[in-house]
Amino acid sequence: MSELINYGMIGGGEGSFIGDVHRRAIALDGKAVLTAGSFSRNTENNRKTGESLNLPSERIYNSFKEMAREEKNRRDGIDFAVIVTPNASHYEIARTFLEKGISVVCDKPLTLDSAQALELADLAEKQNLLFAVTYTYTGYPVIKHARSLIAKGEIGDIRFINAEYPQEWLATEIEQEGQKQAAWRTDPSSSGISNCVGDIGSHVENMISYITGLEIDRLSARLDIFGKNRKLDDNATIMVDYKSGARGLYWCSQIAVGHDNDLSFRIYGTKGSLSWHQENPEHLQLTYLDKPGMTISKGRDELSESGARMIRLPSGHPEGVFEAFANIYSNYVSALKTKLAGKEPQPDYMDFPSAMDGYKGVRFVEACVESSRKDAAWVKL
Ligand SMILES: NC(=O)c1ccc[n+]([C@@H]2O[C@H](COP(=O)([O-])OP(=O)(O)OC[C@H]3O[C@@H](n4cnc5c(N)ncnc54)[C@H](O)[C@@H]3O)[C@@H](O)[C@H]2O)c1
Repeated sequence: MSELINYGMIGGGEGSFIGDVHRRAIALDGKAVLTAGSFSRNTENNRKTGESLNLPSERIYNSFKEMAREEKNRRDGIDFAVIVTPNASHYEIARTFLEKGISVVCDKPLTLDSAQALELADLAEKQNLLFAVTYTYTGYPVIKHARSLIAKGEIGDIRFINAEYPQEWLATEIEQEGQKQAAWRTDPSSSGISNCVGDIGSHVENMISYITGLEIDRLSARLDIFGKNRKLDDNATIMVDYKSGARGLYWCSQIAVGHDNDLSFRIYGTKGSLSWHQENPEHLQLTYLDKPGMTISKGRDELSESGARMIRLPSGHPEGVFEAFANIYSNYVSALKTKLAGKEPQPDYMDFPSAMDGYKGVRFVEACVESSRKDAAWVKL
Protein backbone atom coordinates (compact mmCIF):
# COMPACT_ATOMS: atom_id res chain seq x y z
CA MET A 1 0.00 0.00 0.00
CA SER A 2 2.98 2.36 -0.06
CA GLU A 3 2.90 3.29 -3.74
CA LEU A 4 1.37 6.64 -4.70
CA ILE A 5 -1.52 6.68 -7.13
CA ASN A 6 -2.19 9.50 -9.60
CA TYR A 7 -5.18 11.77 -9.94
CA GLY A 8 -6.31 14.54 -12.25
CA MET A 9 -8.64 17.43 -11.52
CA ILE A 10 -11.37 19.07 -13.61
CA GLY A 11 -12.23 22.54 -12.28
CA GLY A 12 -10.48 24.14 -9.33
CA GLY A 13 -8.86 26.95 -11.35
CA GLU A 14 -7.39 30.05 -9.78
CA GLY A 15 -10.14 32.04 -7.99
CA SER A 16 -12.40 29.04 -7.48
CA PHE A 17 -13.47 27.64 -4.10
CA ILE A 18 -13.56 23.93 -3.49
CA GLY A 19 -10.95 22.50 -5.89
CA ASP A 20 -8.09 23.79 -3.78
CA VAL A 21 -9.69 22.31 -0.64
CA HIS A 22 -9.79 18.89 -2.37
CA ARG A 23 -6.13 19.17 -3.39
CA ARG A 24 -4.96 20.09 0.11
CA ALA A 25 -7.12 17.37 1.68
CA ILE A 26 -5.73 14.69 -0.64
CA ALA A 27 -2.18 15.90 0.07
CA LEU A 28 -2.68 15.50 3.85
CA ASP A 29 -2.25 11.73 3.60
CA GLY A 30 0.28 11.63 0.76
CA LYS A 31 -1.34 8.56 -0.80
CA ALA A 32 -2.25 10.19 -4.13
CA VAL A 33 -0.57 12.87 -6.22
CA LEU A 34 -1.94 15.39 -8.73
CA THR A 35 -0.44 14.63 -12.14
CA ALA A 36 -2.90 16.19 -14.61
CA GLY A 37 -5.64 18.77 -14.80
CA SER A 38 -8.10 20.80 -16.81
CA PHE A 39 -8.74 23.49 -14.24
CA SER A 40 -10.70 26.10 -16.15
CA ARG A 41 -12.28 26.73 -19.54
CA ASN A 42 -10.28 29.95 -19.54
CA THR A 43 -6.99 28.93 -21.20
CA GLU A 44 -4.86 31.43 -19.32
CA ASN A 45 -6.33 30.53 -15.93
CA ASN A 46 -5.95 26.83 -16.75
CA ARG A 47 -2.27 27.24 -17.66
CA LYS A 48 -1.47 29.43 -14.65
CA THR A 49 -3.21 27.05 -12.24
CA GLY A 50 -1.45 23.99 -13.67
CA GLU A 51 1.95 25.70 -13.56
CA SER A 52 1.44 26.84 -9.98
CA LEU A 53 0.81 23.19 -9.13
CA ASN A 54 4.07 22.17 -10.87
CA LEU A 55 2.41 20.17 -13.63
CA PRO A 56 4.27 19.70 -16.91
CA SER A 57 2.64 21.62 -19.78
CA GLU A 58 1.63 18.44 -21.64
CA ARG A 59 -0.56 17.41 -18.71
CA ILE A 60 -2.38 20.74 -18.41
CA TYR A 61 -5.28 20.09 -20.77
CA ASN A 62 -7.52 22.62 -22.48
CA SER A 63 -10.55 20.33 -22.20
CA PHE A 64 -11.62 17.43 -20.01
CA LYS A 65 -12.29 15.35 -23.14
CA GLU A 66 -8.69 15.74 -24.28
CA MET A 67 -7.54 14.95 -20.75
CA ALA A 68 -9.57 11.72 -20.56
CA ARG A 69 -8.35 10.60 -24.00
CA GLU A 70 -4.67 11.37 -23.40
CA GLU A 71 -4.51 10.12 -19.82
CA LYS A 72 -6.16 6.85 -20.83
CA ASN A 73 -3.32 6.30 -23.33
CA ARG A 74 -0.44 7.03 -20.95
CA ARG A 75 1.27 4.25 -19.06
CA ASP A 76 1.48 6.59 -16.04
CA GLY A 77 -2.03 8.00 -16.64
CA ILE A 78 -4.33 9.08 -13.82
CA ASP A 79 -6.02 6.47 -11.62
CA PHE A 80 -8.95 8.74 -10.73
CA ALA A 81 -10.48 12.03 -11.82
CA VAL A 82 -11.75 14.63 -9.33
CA ILE A 83 -14.65 16.77 -10.62
CA VAL A 84 -15.06 20.17 -8.93
CA THR A 85 -16.91 22.15 -11.59
CA PRO A 86 -20.41 23.69 -11.24
CA ASN A 87 -23.26 21.15 -11.06
CA ALA A 88 -24.47 21.19 -14.68
CA SER A 89 -21.20 19.77 -16.04
CA HIS A 90 -20.76 16.88 -13.55
CA TYR A 91 -22.69 14.29 -15.56
CA GLU A 92 -20.88 14.72 -18.87
CA ILE A 93 -17.43 14.92 -17.28
CA ALA A 94 -18.00 11.90 -15.02
CA ARG A 95 -19.40 9.82 -17.89
CA THR A 96 -16.43 10.70 -20.11
CA PHE A 97 -13.88 9.44 -17.56
CA LEU A 98 -15.88 6.34 -16.61
CA GLU A 99 -16.18 5.39 -20.29
CA LYS A 100 -12.38 5.57 -20.53
CA GLY A 101 -12.07 3.21 -17.56
CA ILE A 102 -11.00 5.89 -15.04
CA SER A 103 -12.50 6.03 -11.52
CA VAL A 104 -14.21 9.24 -10.41
CA VAL A 105 -14.68 11.45 -7.36
CA CYS A 106 -17.36 14.10 -7.98
CA ASP A 107 -18.63 16.88 -5.79
CA LYS A 108 -22.32 17.19 -4.90
CA PRO A 109 -25.02 17.48 -6.11
CA LEU A 110 -23.98 14.62 -8.37
CA THR A 111 -26.07 15.52 -11.43
CA LEU A 112 -29.01 17.66 -12.54
CA ASP A 113 -31.49 14.77 -12.50
CA SER A 114 -31.77 11.36 -10.91
CA ALA A 115 -31.79 9.45 -14.23
CA GLN A 116 -28.31 10.83 -14.97
CA ALA A 117 -27.13 9.92 -11.46
CA LEU A 118 -28.38 6.33 -11.80
CA GLU A 119 -26.71 6.07 -15.18
CA LEU A 120 -23.36 7.07 -13.66
CA ALA A 121 -23.77 4.61 -10.76
CA ASP A 122 -24.58 1.80 -13.25
CA LEU A 123 -21.70 2.73 -15.53
CA ALA A 124 -19.18 2.75 -12.65
CA GLU A 125 -20.38 -0.69 -11.58
CA LYS A 126 -20.30 -2.08 -15.12
CA GLN A 127 -16.76 -0.77 -15.62
CA ASN A 128 -15.70 -2.08 -12.18
CA LEU A 129 -14.62 1.44 -11.11
CA LEU A 130 -14.87 3.27 -7.79
CA PHE A 131 -17.10 6.34 -7.59
CA ALA A 132 -17.25 8.73 -4.61
CA VAL A 133 -19.38 11.82 -4.04
CA THR A 134 -17.82 14.31 -1.63
CA TYR A 135 -20.44 14.94 1.03
CA THR A 136 -17.73 16.47 3.19
CA TYR A 137 -19.26 16.51 6.62
CA THR A 138 -19.68 12.75 7.09
CA GLY A 139 -15.87 12.60 7.29
CA TYR A 140 -15.69 13.85 10.90
CA PRO A 141 -14.68 11.19 13.49
CA VAL A 142 -17.54 12.03 15.89
CA ILE A 143 -20.07 11.70 13.06
CA LYS A 144 -18.85 8.14 12.51
CA HIS A 145 -19.19 7.60 16.25
CA ALA A 146 -22.77 8.96 16.20
CA ARG A 147 -23.55 6.48 13.44
CA SER A 148 -22.26 3.56 15.54
CA LEU A 149 -24.18 4.73 18.62
CA ILE A 150 -27.43 4.71 16.63
CA ALA A 151 -26.64 1.35 15.01
CA LYS A 152 -26.03 -0.13 18.49
CA GLY A 153 -29.43 1.16 19.65
CA GLU A 154 -27.96 3.53 22.25
CA ILE A 155 -30.72 6.11 21.79
CA GLY A 156 -33.41 3.51 21.04
CA ASP A 157 -35.83 3.78 18.14
CA ILE A 158 -35.63 7.11 16.38
CA ARG A 159 -38.81 9.15 16.71
CA PHE A 160 -37.97 12.62 15.43
CA ILE A 161 -35.11 14.37 13.64
CA ASN A 162 -34.59 18.09 13.39
CA ALA A 163 -31.78 19.01 11.02
CA GLU A 164 -30.81 22.33 9.54
CA TYR A 165 -28.21 24.09 7.43
CA PRO A 166 -28.46 27.88 7.72
CA GLN A 167 -26.02 30.27 6.02
CA GLU A 168 -26.23 34.03 5.50
CA TRP A 169 -24.02 34.56 2.45
CA LEU A 170 -26.93 35.07 -0.02
CA ALA A 171 -28.94 37.39 2.26
CA THR A 172 -28.27 40.08 -0.35
CA GLU A 173 -28.09 39.49 -4.10
CA ILE A 174 -24.30 39.38 -4.33
CA GLU A 175 -24.63 37.52 -7.63
CA GLN A 176 -25.57 40.93 -9.15
CA GLU A 177 -22.20 42.27 -8.00
CA GLY A 178 -20.21 39.61 -9.81
CA GLN A 179 -19.61 37.16 -6.94
CA LYS A 180 -18.73 34.13 -9.03
CA GLN A 181 -19.85 31.32 -6.73
CA ALA A 182 -23.17 33.09 -6.09
CA ALA A 183 -23.65 33.80 -9.81
CA TRP A 184 -23.64 30.20 -10.99
CA ARG A 185 -25.50 28.82 -7.95
CA THR A 186 -28.44 31.18 -8.63
CA ASP A 187 -28.44 30.43 -12.38
CA PRO A 188 -30.58 27.40 -13.34
CA SER A 189 -28.39 26.64 -16.37
CA SER A 190 -25.40 25.93 -14.08
CA SER A 191 -27.08 24.98 -10.81
CA GLY A 192 -30.09 22.92 -11.95
CA ILE A 193 -33.67 23.01 -10.64
CA SER A 194 -32.68 24.16 -7.15
CA ASN A 195 -30.07 26.39 -5.58
CA CYS A 196 -30.44 26.12 -1.79
CA VAL A 197 -31.74 22.53 -1.52
CA GLY A 198 -29.23 21.31 -4.12
CA ASP A 199 -26.30 23.18 -2.62
CA ILE A 200 -26.81 22.62 1.12
CA GLY A 201 -30.10 20.76 1.66
CA SER A 202 -28.39 17.83 -0.06
CA HIS A 203 -25.80 17.80 2.76
CA VAL A 204 -28.63 17.57 5.33
CA GLU A 205 -30.22 14.64 3.47
CA ASN A 206 -26.90 12.80 3.20
CA MET A 207 -25.84 13.45 6.80
CA ILE A 208 -29.09 12.10 8.27
CA SER A 209 -29.17 9.16 5.88
CA TYR A 210 -25.53 8.28 6.76
CA ILE A 211 -25.93 8.53 10.52
CA THR A 212 -29.33 6.93 10.94
CA GLY A 213 -29.67 4.62 7.92
CA LEU A 214 -33.30 5.82 7.73
CA GLU A 215 -34.89 5.95 4.31
CA ILE A 216 -37.26 8.74 3.36
CA ASP A 217 -40.74 7.52 2.40
CA ARG A 218 -42.27 10.89 1.46
CA LEU A 219 -41.71 14.58 1.96
CA SER A 220 -43.52 17.89 1.84
CA ALA A 221 -41.40 20.92 0.95
CA ARG A 222 -41.82 24.65 0.60
CA LEU A 223 -39.00 26.34 -1.29
CA ASP A 224 -38.80 30.13 -0.94
CA ILE A 225 -37.20 32.75 -3.15
CA PHE A 226 -36.45 35.84 -1.09
CA GLY A 227 -33.98 37.51 -3.48
CA LYS A 228 -36.17 39.69 -5.75
CA ASN A 229 -34.29 38.92 -8.96
CA ARG A 230 -33.73 35.24 -8.27
CA LYS A 231 -35.16 32.31 -10.18
CA LEU A 232 -34.12 29.63 -7.69
CA ASP A 233 -34.75 28.95 -3.99
CA ASP A 234 -32.63 30.55 -1.27
CA ASN A 235 -34.51 29.02 1.71
CA ALA A 236 -36.48 25.79 2.20
CA THR A 237 -38.58 24.04 4.87
CA ILE A 238 -39.03 20.30 4.41
CA MET A 239 -41.18 17.85 6.41
CA VAL A 240 -40.01 14.26 6.11
CA ASP A 241 -41.69 10.91 6.85
CA TYR A 242 -39.24 8.00 7.04
CA LYS A 243 -40.13 4.42 6.10
CA SER A 244 -39.55 3.39 9.74
CA GLY A 245 -42.39 5.65 10.92
CA ALA A 246 -40.02 8.29 12.31
CA ARG A 247 -40.63 11.93 11.39
CA GLY A 248 -38.30 14.78 10.52
CA LEU A 249 -38.09 18.47 9.84
CA TYR A 250 -35.27 19.92 7.72
CA TRP A 251 -34.49 23.58 7.10
CA CYS A 252 -31.82 24.95 4.81
CA SER A 253 -31.24 28.62 4.14
CA GLN A 254 -28.78 31.00 2.54
CA ILE A 255 -30.50 34.13 3.84
CA ALA A 256 -30.19 33.33 7.58
CA VAL A 257 -28.34 36.39 8.87
CA GLY A 258 -25.93 35.47 11.66
CA HIS A 259 -25.19 31.94 10.48
CA ASP A 260 -21.94 31.09 8.72
CA ASN A 261 -22.05 27.38 7.88
CA ASP A 262 -24.23 26.00 10.61
CA LEU A 263 -25.11 22.43 9.60
CA SER A 264 -26.65 20.89 12.74
CA PHE A 265 -28.88 18.03 13.83
CA ARG A 266 -30.88 16.83 16.83
CA ILE A 267 -31.97 13.21 16.77
CA TYR A 268 -34.51 12.01 19.35
CA GLY A 269 -34.95 8.32 20.14
CA THR A 270 -36.99 6.37 22.68
CA LYS A 271 -33.98 6.07 25.05
CA GLY A 272 -31.95 9.20 24.36
CA SER A 273 -30.90 11.91 21.95
CA LEU A 274 -27.88 13.11 19.96
CA SER A 275 -27.03 16.57 18.75
CA TRP A 276 -24.13 18.05 16.77
CA HIS A 277 -23.07 21.34 15.17
CA GLN A 278 -20.68 21.55 12.22
CA GLU A 279 -19.10 24.72 13.61
CA ASN A 280 -18.06 22.73 16.70
CA PRO A 281 -17.36 19.47 14.87
CA GLU A 282 -15.35 17.58 17.48
CA HIS A 283 -18.08 17.48 20.11
CA LEU A 284 -21.21 15.37 20.14
CA GLN A 285 -23.98 15.78 22.72
CA LEU A 286 -25.47 12.51 24.01
CA THR A 287 -28.30 12.45 26.53
CA TYR A 288 -29.91 9.31 27.95
CA LEU A 289 -33.44 9.50 29.34
CA ASP A 290 -33.35 10.27 33.12
CA LYS A 291 -29.59 10.93 33.12
CA PRO A 292 -27.63 14.19 32.80
CA GLY A 293 -26.44 14.93 29.29
CA MET A 294 -22.81 14.44 28.26
CA THR A 295 -20.43 15.87 25.70
CA ILE A 296 -18.35 13.33 23.79
CA SER A 297 -15.05 14.87 22.76
CA LYS A 298 -12.79 13.68 19.93
CA GLY A 299 -9.44 12.51 21.22
CA ARG A 300 -10.52 12.59 24.88
CA ASP A 301 -13.34 10.05 24.87
CA GLU A 302 -13.36 6.60 23.36
CA LEU A 303 -14.91 6.59 19.89
CA SER A 304 -16.11 3.65 17.80
CA GLU A 305 -13.41 2.06 15.64
CA SER A 306 -14.77 3.73 12.47
CA GLY A 307 -14.36 7.16 14.10
CA ALA A 308 -11.20 6.49 16.12
CA ARG A 309 -9.22 5.44 13.04
CA MET A 310 -9.90 8.85 11.51
CA ILE A 311 -8.44 10.90 14.39
CA ARG A 312 -5.26 12.73 13.37
CA LEU A 313 -4.54 14.93 16.42
CA PRO A 314 -4.98 14.57 20.20
CA SER A 315 -7.84 16.19 22.13
CA GLY A 316 -7.93 19.96 22.14
CA HIS A 317 -6.07 20.18 18.81
CA PRO A 318 -8.90 21.10 16.46
CA GLU A 319 -9.44 19.29 13.18
CA GLY A 320 -11.85 20.77 10.66
CA VAL A 321 -13.11 20.71 7.11
CA PHE A 322 -9.73 19.84 5.53
CA GLU A 323 -9.46 16.76 7.73
CA ALA A 324 -13.11 15.76 7.13
CA PHE A 325 -12.45 15.93 3.38
CA ALA A 326 -9.15 14.08 3.85
CA ASN A 327 -10.94 11.28 5.71
CA ILE A 328 -13.27 10.71 2.79
CA TYR A 329 -10.27 10.62 0.45
CA SER A 330 -8.25 8.45 2.81
CA ASN A 331 -10.82 5.66 2.62
CA TYR A 332 -11.47 6.14 -1.09
CA VAL A 333 -7.80 6.14 -2.09
CA SER A 334 -7.06 3.09 0.10
CA ALA A 335 -10.02 1.27 -1.46
CA LEU A 336 -8.92 2.22 -4.98
CA LYS A 337 -5.30 1.16 -4.38
CA THR A 338 -6.54 -2.21 -3.13
CA LYS A 339 -8.78 -2.58 -6.16
CA LEU A 340 -5.99 -1.60 -8.55
CA ALA A 341 -3.88 -4.32 -6.93
CA GLY A 342 -6.60 -6.79 -7.94
CA LYS A 343 -7.99 -7.33 -4.43
CA GLU A 344 -11.35 -6.61 -2.80
CA PRO A 345 -11.20 -3.50 -0.54
CA GLN A 346 -11.86 -4.16 3.15
CA PRO A 347 -15.22 -2.82 4.43
CA ASP A 348 -13.78 0.12 6.42
CA TYR A 349 -12.12 1.48 3.27
CA MET A 350 -15.54 1.51 1.60
CA ASP A 351 -16.77 4.05 4.17
CA PHE A 352 -17.14 6.98 1.77
CA PRO A 353 -20.24 8.42 0.03
CA SER A 354 -21.01 6.42 -3.12
CA ALA A 355 -22.63 7.18 -6.47
CA MET A 356 -25.88 5.71 -5.07
CA ASP A 357 -25.66 8.21 -2.19
CA GLY A 358 -25.26 10.86 -4.88
CA TYR A 359 -28.36 9.49 -6.62
CA LYS A 360 -30.36 9.65 -3.37
CA GLY A 361 -29.32 13.28 -2.95
CA VAL A 362 -30.47 14.25 -6.43
CA ARG A 363 -33.75 12.35 -5.98
CA PHE A 364 -34.28 14.28 -2.72
CA VAL A 365 -33.78 17.60 -4.54
CA GLU A 366 -36.22 16.57 -7.28
CA ALA A 367 -38.87 15.55 -4.75
CA CYS A 368 -38.50 18.85 -2.85
CA VAL A 369 -38.92 20.89 -6.04
CA GLU A 370 -41.92 18.80 -7.18
CA SER A 371 -43.61 19.14 -3.78
CA SER A 372 -43.05 22.89 -3.62
CA ARG A 373 -44.46 23.38 -7.11
CA LYS A 374 -47.62 21.58 -5.91
CA ASP A 375 -48.01 23.85 -2.86
CA ALA A 376 -46.08 21.52 -0.51
CA ALA A 377 -48.00 18.37 -1.50
CA TRP A 378 -46.58 15.11 -0.14
CA VAL A 379 -44.27 13.45 -2.68
CA LYS A 380 -43.14 9.81 -2.48
CA LEU A 381 -39.47 9.07 -2.99
N1 LIG B 1 -18.58 19.27 -0.65
C1 LIG B 1 -18.69 20.52 -0.31
O1 LIG B 1 -18.73 20.82 0.88
C2 LIG B 1 -18.74 21.58 -1.37
C3 LIG B 1 -18.42 22.91 -1.05
C4 LIG B 1 -18.43 23.85 -2.09
C5 LIG B 1 -18.77 23.48 -3.38
N2 LIG B 1 -19.12 22.19 -3.65
C6 LIG B 1 -19.48 21.78 -5.02
O2 LIG B 1 -18.30 21.85 -5.81
C7 LIG B 1 -18.60 22.27 -7.13
C8 LIG B 1 -17.77 23.52 -7.46
O3 LIG B 1 -18.15 24.58 -6.59
P1 LIG B 1 -17.20 25.86 -6.33
O4 LIG B 1 -17.88 26.70 -5.32
O5 LIG B 1 -15.82 25.43 -6.10
O6 LIG B 1 -17.32 26.57 -7.76
P2 LIG B 1 -16.30 27.65 -8.36
O7 LIG B 1 -17.12 28.47 -9.30
O8 LIG B 1 -15.55 28.33 -7.30
O9 LIG B 1 -15.26 26.77 -9.20
C9 LIG B 1 -15.62 26.06 -10.36
C10 LIG B 1 -14.36 25.83 -11.18
O10 LIG B 1 -14.68 24.95 -12.27
C11 LIG B 1 -14.07 25.51 -13.47
N3 LIG B 1 -14.79 24.94 -14.62
C12 LIG B 1 -16.09 25.11 -14.99
N4 LIG B 1 -16.37 24.37 -16.07
C13 LIG B 1 -15.24 23.70 -16.40
C14 LIG B 1 -14.89 22.76 -17.41
N5 LIG B 1 -15.79 22.37 -18.33
N6 LIG B 1 -13.63 22.31 -17.45
C15 LIG B 1 -12.70 22.68 -16.53
N7 LIG B 1 -12.98 23.56 -15.54
C16 LIG B 1 -14.22 24.07 -15.49
C17 LIG B 1 -14.18 27.00 -13.28
O11 LIG B 1 -13.28 27.69 -14.11
C18 LIG B 1 -13.77 27.09 -11.81
O12 LIG B 1 -12.35 27.05 -11.69
C19 LIG B 1 -20.11 22.48 -7.16
O13 LIG B 1 -20.75 21.34 -7.67
C20 LIG B 1 -20.48 22.67 -5.70
O14 LIG B 1 -21.81 22.28 -5.40
C21 LIG B 1 -19.09 21.26 -2.67
